[in-house]
Order: sequence, then structure tokens, then C-alpha cells
Amino acid sequence: MNAQELRSKYVEFFKSKAHAQIQGKSLLPDNDPTVLFTTAGMHPLVPYLLGEPHPAGNRLVDYQKCIRTGDIDSVGDPSHLTFFEMLGNWSLGDYFKDGAIRMSFEFLTSAEWLGIPVEKLGVTVFEGDDTVPRDDESAAIWKALGIPESRISYLPRADNWWGPAGTTGPCGPDSEMFYDIGKEPCGPKCGPGCSCGKWLEIWNDVFMQYNKAADGSYEPLARKCVDTGMGIERTVTILNGKKSVYDTEIFAPIIAAVEKVSGYTYGSDPEKDKSVRIICDHVRTATFILGDPKAVSPSNVGAGYVLRRLIRRAVRHGHKLGIEDRQILSPIAAVVVEKFKGPYPELEENWKYIKTELDSEEEKFLETLQKGEHEFEKLLPNLIKDPRKIMSGRMAFKLYDTYGFPIELTDELAQEQGLKVNREEFDEAFKKHQELSRAGSEQIFKGGLVDQGEISTKYHTATHLLHKALRMILGDHVAQKGSNITAERMRFDFSHGSPMSPEEVQKVQDIVNEQIQRDLQVTMKVMNLDDAKALGAMALFGEKYESQVKVYSIGDFSTEVCGGPHVEHTGTMGKFRIQKEQSSSAGVRRIRAVLE
Ligand code: ALA
Repeated sequence: MNAQELRSKYVEFFKSKAHAQIQGKSLLPDNDPTVLFTTAGMHPLVPYLLGEPHPAGNRLVDYQKCIRTGDIDSVGDPSHLTFFEMLGNWSLGDYFKDGAIRMSFEFLTSAEWLGIPVEKLGVTVFEGDDTVPRDDESAAIWKALGIPESRISYLPRADNWWGPAGTTGPCGPDSEMFYDIGKEPCGPKCGPGCSCGKWLEIWNDVFMQYNKAADGSYEPLARKCVDTGMGIERTVTILNGKKSVYDTEIFAPIIAAVEKVSGYTYGSDPEKDKSVRIICDHVRTATFILGDPKAVSPSNVGAGYVLRRLIRRAVRHGHKLGIEDRQILSPIAAVVVEKFKGPYPELEENWKYIKTELDSEEEKFLETLQKGEHEFEKLLPNLIKDPRKIMSGRMAFKLYDTYGFPIELTDELAQEQGLKVNREEFDEAFKKHQELSRAGSEQIFKGGLVDQGEISTKYHTATHLLHKALRMILGDHVAQKGSNITAERMRFDFSHGSPMSPEEVQKVQDIVNEQIQRDLQVTMKVMNLDDAKALGAMALFGEKYESQVKVYSIGDFSTEVCGGPHVEHTGTMGKFRIQKEQSSSAGVRRIRAVLE
């Protein structure tokens, strides 16, 4: 079974159980400043898990593109990826543990669906703690279905608790499903959940009962929900009797592309094979970020920084395969686009942008590498005079910090000259630097902890007013390209070719404040997308919508398709002030504004 068949079967199965299929969303979450990327299928559904009614109903199914960079150092092993696809089904106050587990079991084991032998399955359930008791209920359901006690592990919160996706939001105990790949147990305690490689996690049923608040407390949800996630890459792996995600049809053409650009044959050298896998993963992830309707470009902050790191790491591993003098990323990305454009047509639509950005970032990095080598050569005459043949960590760190030259390459160049880098000293300097930059990024995220709170709701309504006001002053070509809200300010990106004049900025600000003063009522209606468009509702260009959508109207001023939430009356919002209008990327402007 290939990935496409798995996607279709999953959706078909849950449709047969009265679920409505909804569209997966962007990789760059809107209005959630606590994370950089969409990390799970539930992420775009947070407002609904917290109680907002979903226009498509209480049982939902979809597939969602996700990015998790926490495990980036494990990428290249058999199961870790920075980008993956998640299949998910949700109950919004409908079925709970019994319904969820029974449906998971049926889909996994029934011959009509995946037909996995019951003996190959093991599960984990929450062992309980001070807040939530041991999940005997889930264990009993699994046992009734035929999973013996010996293949049920009871694990702590670190393993069997899911969420929130960011720092706040819905969460709860979960029950995870594992496939036994047939390896010998690593010891007497080896069971489902063990990380020795015998048990591969393929699916997770989360029983959402709490909302984690900004102060760290857990508030019970008014309506219990189910959130599940099945990893497509891992499930395709086990269904085809493979041991690694990279051995599936999903990665076969991408590996072939790396072989083609490098001239290296996969399978000839374990170290180089790992580099091939890392290149495949990183180029795939970078292609999906750049191909997203809300794409960012490589930069030194936030999602753009992650993108830059992935691209540079891929180039560096290309270096390890002996590629030094030519660009390799966009030919590999072209294969990624070809492979995934069926379920993700946005990749093909944005191909030009993907290619331009990859080519330019790769070129810049190659220059960095050349500069670094040049600097190294300048240091060399003094270095080889050192009788101990040691290059100080301080010097290596300077190459890294000033020229962006990776330590692995400094090591390599030093080795070629019979020198050794003092890695301890380097690591120390590096750690200090990391601590400083981590403190910096924590500052950025601190403001975001109130994401569903009152202030961010006001900012959210302000984005609608601003969007409309910009179109009135600058023209109908203005379209929202992204927004980001913290407790302190809002940012709004929109398409417009030139800087705004101070007069234009003033006019836009005045229009927004006028609507606030009019104390307009905000109302919401569910309707089908075509009716919303016929009504002239603004919608995000390139965003995927369900057939039934929510349309928020702010008095007679603006009508926009949106998930909410919003204030009830604009009069509560305070005074709107634009602090800055600047360029964001080619053809895109960025406004930073506050409510005072
Ligand atoms: N949100 C859950 C997960 O990502 C299903 O594992």
C-alpha cells in the first residue's frame, strides 16, 4: 500500500463512520505566536477543541502537513523526520475513549482496511498521576478487543500525555499504538513504548479533557474531545514490511534524485547513506515550507531561521558526498514537488518561488563556505608553527560566529593539515552563545502565552479592520499574506508593491479607529464557501477552506471568512496605532500595530 492509498483509505473509513472530511491547513499557523510551525493535525483545530462549533460538524477527518524540529538531530535514523504527514480523526464532544479505540482497532486490523495482524500490535496507556487517574478504561477496551495485558504498557506523563501544541491549549492523556517490527526484545522490560527500535509508534488517540492555561494550570474542558494522529510515513513503512521510512516509495524518487546530482550510489557507505537521508528529509521540508501559501523566506529569525538551517545542513551533507562546486537543492526539490503535487497542489503553484529561494540561499551559503575556507587559509601559516598542532577552540568559534563557517568543516580542513581543533573549548564557547540566543527567543515567545485570551481576540478583530482599510486606501490587489499576534502587538503582512506614504498610513489608521468608535457589532454566520464569495467576503488567497465556512461580519464594514474568535463589539478594542510600515519580502509589506 502506498501513501496515496493510505490517505484515501483512512478518509474513506472515517467517512463511513459519519466523519466529514476537512482540508488540512497551512504549515505556518496563523494567530498562534507560541509555535513556529503546525506540529500536529489538531493544531488548526484548537479553537474547536476548546468549544467553538465547527461548521462541518462534530466528527472530522483530514490529512495535515506537519513540521517538528525538536528531533532534528535524530533525522537520518530509520524513523525520525522533520516534515511528516499526519492523518487524523476528531470527535468534538461526540464519541470518547470507547468509540475512538474501537475505530482505531477496526481500521488497523480489519482485512477490509489495513489488515495488520493483532499479534503485531501493542499499546500504551497513561499510568496516572496526581491530576488524572490511571487509564484503566482504555486498557479494558484494548483487552476486550484482543490485545493481551502483556502487550499493554502503562507509562507516565512524559510518554502518554499529549499537548498542547504550543505552550497553551487543549491536552490530555493518550493511548498510543505500536507495531512490533520483529526484533528481539532488548531486555525483560521491553514492551510497547520502548525506544530500542522493536516498537514503532504509528498512531495516537488523545483524550482531550483539559486546557492548559497560560499560568500552567489545567482547566477541565466543558466538552471532552478526541484527537488522533497517524503518521503516514511510518505506517507505509510497516505495511510494506520495511524497517526504515526511507525504504518506502515515499522517499525512493528523492533518494534517486540525490544519487543523480551527487553521483554517489546509495547503500555503498553507511556514513554517506546517512547524509543522503538527511538531504532527502531537509530538502523535502524546505520545499514544503517554501511551497506553502504562507511561505516564509530564509532569514535569521523564527520560521525563516529554521528554513535557513535546513537548507544549510542539506548543503553541508552534500559537501560530505563530495559536491562542492554546484547547486543541488532545486533539482532535488523538483522531484519532491512532482511526488507530492497530487495531495498538495500548492507545491506546483509555488514552484517558481521554491526554486528561486533555494537557489539563492544555496549560493549564499556556498559563498560563506568559500569565505570561511579563505579565512582558514589566512590563519594557517601561524597554525602550523604550533608545535602541538592544535587550533584553539576560540579561533574555530570565531570562524563559526563571524563567517558562519560550520565547525565540522573547520575540523576537516584542520585534519587535512595535520592539525586538531580544541573541541572542548569550541563547545564551551558555542554553548554560551546558544544560551544567549535561547534567552533571546524566549523573550519573543513570552508575549504569546495569552493566545486565546482577550487581548489577542481584540487584535484578531483588528486584523479584519486593517485588511479592509488597506484595500480601501491602496486598492483591491491588497491581500493578507500572514499575521502574527502577541499580547503586545500585531503584525500584518499584505501584498503591495511599494512603501506606503505617511498619508496613506494615517488614512488607514483613521479608518480603523473610526470603525472602533462606531462600536460595530460583530456577527458570525455559517454558510457555504460559494455563498460567502458571492457575498463579497474576503478570504485568504491560497488558503484551503471547507465547503462550509464561518463568515464574520463587522457591522457594514467588513465581511471575512475566518475561524474566529472575535470581539462582540468593536467599541471595546481601544485605540489602534500603526507603529511601523516596512518591507517584508518581495511584493509584500508588513505593518506592526498596537491597540492602546
Ligand atoms: N495530536 C496527537 C499527536 O500528534 C494525535 O500525536
